[in-house]
Amino acid sequence: MGFEGGQVQNAIYVAGESPWPISAAEWEARAAEVLEPGPFDYIAGGAGSEATMRANLEAFERRRLRPRMLAGTAERDLAVEVLGTRSPAPFLLAPIGVLSIAHPDGEVGVARAAAATGVPLVLSSAASHTIEEVAEAMGDAPRWFQLYWVNDREIALSLVRRAESSGYRGLVVTVDTLTLGWRPRDLAKAYLPFLAGEGCAQFFSDPVFRSRLEQPPEEDVLAAAVAMLATFPNLALTWEDLAWLRGQTELPLLVKGVLRGEDAALAREAGADGVIVSNHGGRQVDGAVAALDALVEVRDELGPDAVVLMDGGIRGGADVLKALALGADAVLLGRPYAYGLAVGGQEGVEAVIRHLMADTDITLALMGARRATDLDRTWIAASS
Ligand code: GLV
Repeated sequence: MGFEGGQVQNAIYVAGESPWPISAAEWEARAAEVLEPGPFDYIAGGAGSEATMRANLEAFERRRLRPRMLAGTAERDLAVEVLGTRSPAPFLLAPIGVLSIAHPDGEVGVARAAAATGVPLVLSSAASHTIEEVAEAMGDAPRWFQLYWVNDREIALSLVRRAESSGYRGLVVTVDTLTLGWRPRDLAKAYLPFLAGEGCAQFFSDPVFRSRLEQPPEEDVLAAAVAMLATFPNLALTWEDLAWLRGQTELPLLVKGVLRGEDAALAREAGADGVIVSNHGGRQVDGAVAALDALVEVRDELGPDAVVLMDGGIRGGADVLKALALGADAVLLGRPYAYGLAVGGQEGVEAVIRHLMADTDITLALMGARRATDLDRTWIAASS
């Protein structure tokens, strides 16, 4: 038997108090207390009216599980394997950039928590710590790299090569953020952390990016940040470019940010090994379909054998299980771990991960299922 959620639960009761917040809402509230409004809203906010952020949550709320009783679930297995990468729980840590605005340890704190728990981390192109620093913090622990495919192919490819040589075992190409969405909370405060050089580590440390600058970032941060922001938008990108990238790397390639069945099919035709259904946590297209609803469409399009992950709205174990039942091979956890980092650094992230594992394990047991991977649509009420 692997992980035991009951032990995590008992430890809290026996201690007489929980050292950490328990509900997702409480983690968020604590993060709001410790962070300045600029950083907090950058993490918590979304595009436009934030309708899609709410829709992500509502889509989980709307679905209802159908537990079975007396199914003999004393022995359980929460683990999943996705494209050769194993996770002890059916979730990974989603790529989130600029985590130095949440905590000085930034992505290195997250990396250490991921390594301590065995849950894979998808490191962001917009991180505040480099590909190599995060690799060093993780040792052999599993990690993927998320690529923002900037408008300079040589820079993009340089990032891919660095990830390959630093032990990252998957490449996640984000296709929904070819430019930043319209984000009222940030606009109202004119808050963009990259302009202060935060979240620029991959670029500032990249030999190809540096060769494009007149002065190194150490001498002129603002000019380097402006150069990075000028490199970022890439609205000319098409599926043909993806086919080119496929030919450049042997890493498993996943396309993140797909919301329609036909786009998932195009990703597969271009050579992607998997897709991640996502609306970027509601940060890009306000009014876009909820990620969980899009998951159903994408799974229907690609069939049972395709690798399909999702993110957007995972706040508890029941959400993880609902997504698996509706066709996800695994999910990605986003904002909750950023709040964990803000509240408690590495230990906070570890607490968020262990709580979600415990909640998922206990709920799986009570659902009458032994393996997370056993769930299918029969576990979701038809009326929901
Ligand atoms: C960038 O990826 C962002 O969502 O802020």
